[in-house]
Amino acid sequence: MSSLRSPREPSESRQAQPGRDASRSPRERSESKRPLRVAMIGYGFMGAAHSVGWRQAPAVFDLAEDVEMAVLVGRNADAVAQAAAHWGWGASETDWRKVIARDDIDIVDVVTPGDSHAEIAIAALEAGKHVLCEKPLANTVAEAEAMLAAATRAAERGAKAMVGFTYRRVPAVTFLRDLIAQGAVGTVQQVRAAYRQDWLVDPQAPLAWRLQKEHAGSGALGDIGAHIIDMTQFVTGQRIEAVSGTVETIVKRRPLLGSGSGLSGVAAEGYGEVTVDDAAIFTGRLSGGALVSFEATRFATGRKNSLTIEVSGDKGALAFDLEDLNSLQFYDRTAPGDRQGFTKILVTEAQHPYVAAWWPTGHMLGYEHGFVHQAVDLVRAIHDDVDPHPTFAEGLSVQRVLAAVEQSAAKDSAWVRVGVEDLVFERA
Ligand SMILES: NC(=O)c1ccc[n+]([C@@H]2O[C@H](COP(=O)([O-])OP(=O)(O)OC[C@H]3O[C@@H](n4cnc5c(N)ncnc54)[C@H](O)[C@@H]3O)[C@@H](O)[C@H]2O)c1
Repeated sequence: MSSLRSPREPSESRQAQPGRDASRSPRERSESKRPLRVAMIGYGFMGAAHSVGWRQAPAVFDLAEDVEMAVLVGRNADAVAQAAAHWGWGASETDWRKVIARDDIDIVDVVTPGDSHAEIAIAALEAGKHVLCEKPLANTVAEAEAMLAAATRAAERGAKAMVGFTYRRVPAVTFLRDLIAQGAVGTVQQVRAAYRQDWLVDPQAPLAWRLQKEHAGSGALGDIGAHIIDMTQFVTGQRIEAVSGTVETIVKRRPLLGSGSGLSGVAAEGYGEVTVDDAAIFTGRLSGGALVSFEATRFATGRKNSLTIEVSGDKGALAFDLEDLNSLQFYDRTAPGDRQGFTKILVTEAQHPYVAAWWPTGHMLGYEHGFVHQAVDLVRAIHDDVDPHPTFAEGLSVQRVLAAVEQSAAKDSAWVRVGVEDLVFERA
């Protein structure tokens, strides 16, 4: 069995000490201290992913705080009760305001569509709760500004606020960021970032909330473009300062939604207007001067959930592809010329971000692990009393880029400067 043995020291290996992340000291929490109690609002696609995250985080990582999945909130009593039982929540509730008013709730996790992020997150912060809010932070810049203001006020009382740009927490993406920070590619000169899906190619796909501006804010731009905007800023450590873009609604009317959530649904009678973009293509200029090309589309036939980023510098290049999420491609321009070429780095070593808590080297992680790492990072930030990243300020910066792309598109793709604050894009 030696080929399956972890290269870690026995005390670090999962086999030797199941459920313990050796990078952490033993639990500091006294036995009498109660766990951090989480209330989650919404129970669709992200409700499922976050449930896995909350359940696995304390089971796999050694956290100084325990976590209790206390209450799941939805609007339909029977459906939310069923979802709570299925995903392991202690109770269910239909009124999020009642839950936020409870003294025994510590963390409010907002996994509803963008139209309710601001109202719920601000109320939760004002009630002194820590908040994890799904991306994009809001549907408008004004909402995101109000959310940041609430987070800033709440921070004075110790409350933490974090945005759910989960892909930052794929170990290969975090490691890509670390390599760039260490100078592996030298000066960043160009970035290519694309998030491509094809779930709307069928013109009969129904008019889900993601296709309605009043619920989603924007279409492919805010839904998946937001991820590559955040990822670009995160991995390069630079702000997007200006953009030039165009957006397109390819299918303008669709059957009304009968039932369903997430990215799927069943059509009902009648048609409605699509009020958001299906595809957004834009270029951006980073604060360090590099040029970025972005593509966010739901019309890339054959591409199911393809997220790719490639960062090119004067000393090398790094590339990530979500369809091969355990690895990176690294090109080292400083190597002897006759040995240069893209090299695949398998990001499954114990010294890679987050990996020590999981499996022996070469044993793969998947989509859900990012949600576990997200819960871990928030709990650790609460315990250590530090700001969890991405902060609401980082979430607002993405919102400003989204708005600038729409402004540019409305002005024949003229370059639009992005209003920016001083920001540091950091790991959790
Ligand atoms: N981090 C990621 O990778 C990622 C991936 C997908 C979606 N998201 C984000 O997560 C959020 C939810 O998306 P989803 O795919 O889970 O959607 P979904 O349609 O699958 O689920 C939304 C849930 O919110 C509930 N809901 C809607 N309005 C509500 C309200 N006013 N009050 C209480 N509950 C309400 C719905 O009943 C449902 O349970 C969105 O902001 C989306 O952009 C993030």
